[in-house]
Amino acid sequence: MSDEKKLILSGIQPTGTFTLGNYIGAVRNWGPLQDECRCFYFIADQHAITVKIEPAQLRQKTLEAYAQLMACGIDLNKSLIFIQSHVPTHAQLSWVLNCSTQFGELSRMTQFKDKSRKHPDDINAGLFDYPVLMAADILIYNADLVPVGVDQMQHLELARTIARRFNGRYGETFKIPEGYVPPVGAKVMSLQEPTKKMSKSDDNPNAVILILDDKDTIIRKFKRAVTDSESEIAFREGKDGINNLLTIYSAVTGRTIEESVREFDGQGYGTFKLAVGEAVADHLAPVREEYARLIADKAYLKECYTRCAGEALRYSYRTLNKVYKKVGFVPTELR
Ligand code: TYM
Repeated sequence: MSDEKKLILSGIQPTGTFTLGNYIGAVRNWGPLQDECRCFYFIADQHAITVKIEPAQLRQKTLEAYAQLMACGIDLNKSLIFIQSHVPTHAQLSWVLNCSTQFGELSRMTQFKDKSRKHPDDINAGLFDYPVLMAADILIYNADLVPVGVDQMQHLELARTIARRFNGRYGETFKIPEGYVPPVGAKVMSLQEPTKKMSKSDDNPNAVILILDDKDTIIRKFKRAVTDSESEIAFREGKDGINNLLTIYSAVTGRTIEESVREFDGQGYGTFKLAVGEAVADHLAPVREEYARLIADKAYLKECYTRCAGEALRYSYRTLNKVYKKVGFVPTELR
């Protein structure tokens, strides 16, 4: 891999099986970048403990997330997939970046406000500080491009602000990263409340398609998807349920929204929902098969995440050492 290639970085939390939202909005766009770019992807286990999660479950989910990323088309001969807690430089940099981040900025993050409302008994400092760790994840590699869904753009904007502020104070250190959101599917909505994003933590299983759901489950969930009381398949304001289904259908078939609308012209919602369910199930079948193969081979997974973390760590030390020097920490031979 040459250093002139653009550097791509993105992460995903291992809080549950990936949803169709994670897949369409983010993960499936990661594989195609790896031929032209240098790609670093990781499982954000340190972000995951900002809300309560059983340790045994976190361990299990982290390995499952790792295998899911591989099954979604990321090739470890071209890209790295590592586990965040294996690369301590992220957390080390985040401490320094904390000191270039304002309390008021973190208070304005909508995800912090949402999660505080959802977990009023555990508004911990990690939840508040989460976007700074995320900024460190990105800036430690001097990433050029960060492919994410729309819900992460506010955090990315903050990472850019922190990088500019640090550069202003200590001299050019960080590249200012750009976000990349896909043209279709940057925000996949809940199947039950189509004004809300599809989320791993939704309590209603019918609202969410998981990428490892079997065909019957996928079709059943789409059949129950909430739409509207009209009967026309059209993409327009006020038709949130249908807009979401058209978006999903277009994303998995590669057709434009207009082509999809034309295809179902004059047909009923029942036929349309079934077609969307079948298209999604067929699209995800190879992911499910590959995942089953990978998760059964724990020794291979370990070999992969160990090698990748080693490479990521070596690469990230370059930035950390530079930052430590700029802020005035006494150099050491230990790193
Ligand atoms: P997470 O785990 O919530 O989601 C992973 C990715 O999936 C996208 N996404 C969606 N896209 C479209 N529609 C949806 N309904 C939907 N739900 C989720 C997210 O935008 C994200 O791209 N903080 C991040 C993880 C992270 C990270 C990073 C990402 C930690 N450090 C550094 C990029 C760079 C998160 O919680 O994503």
